[in-house]
Amino acid sequence: MDVVIAPADEIGEIVADDIAAVVSDRPDAVLGLATGSSPLRIYDAVAQRVANGEVSLARAGGFMLDEYVGLPPGHPCRYSTVIEVDFVSRVDFAPGAVRGPDGDAADLHAACAEYEKAMREAGGVDLQILGIGADGHIAFNEPGSSLASRTRVKTLTAQTRADNARFFGGDVDAVPYHCLTQGLGTIMDARRIVLVATGETKAEAVGQLVEGPVSARWPATILQHHPRVTVLVDEAAASQLALVDYYRHTQTHRHLVS
Ligand code: GLP
Repeated sequence: MDVVIAPADEIGEIVADDIAAVVSDRPDAVLGLATGSSPLRIYDAVAQRVANGEVSLARAGGFMLDEYVGLPPGHPCRYSTVIEVDFVSRVDFAPGAVRGPDGDAADLHAACAEYEKAMREAGGVDLQILGIGADGHIAFNEPGSSLASRTRVKTLTAQTRADNARFFGGDVDAVPYHCLTQGLGTIMDARRIVLVATGETKAEAVGQLVEGPVSARWPATILQHHPRVTVLVDEAAASQLALVDYYRHTQTHRHLVS
């Protein structure tokens, strides 16, 4: 696991460099897209590069991590709408190139199975962008999630519903109780993973993710078993890392053999 500590306002450009390198190597690369506030600076930076003609996603694809249950297409809080507004509409993806699980499907279990199939048929995710919840969830894999789970229906914790109420005009009652989410096993299939976290509220989760025991109590800890993960954090989110001096040391003395 590579831990990189950087100012919050540089994180977007750092990950945009990664995305640019991935699509330059492989124009039809598949990106794993997270919603939430953490990736917004990344999407801004990539949109800027697409506008400048430095990067093109015209042949790339995307898979979202998760979706609320019961929000119809076009609902402003549905993650498919959010990613459209925050990212897809600002870049040059081909129509339909970015997909998400259908949380409004009549048969949710079939929708989960179809989503797994679509990801497999697309050849899997080349670069997955992740945020992290304060309780250590990634996508919507709440504490207690099976470390081998696949895309499925999950019940959100009270904390996640309260945390996400800000997107629903502050009304926690408007936040759905359920979601569809890629499982931890699904996320682990991505060939590379970049997790971004900023701010003090993420410090405990980041501490557990990097240095804690691997456990369903902190679902993000499963990433310790992935061979190519970068954790990109600001000083505040890094504040509970016991080995922070070592991570800085590795940044200063990076071994540049690819
Ligand atoms: C939601 C999303 C996650 C995201 C998390 C953190 O629960 N399902 O994918 O990582 O929130 O969000 P934020 O980046 O807004 O703190």
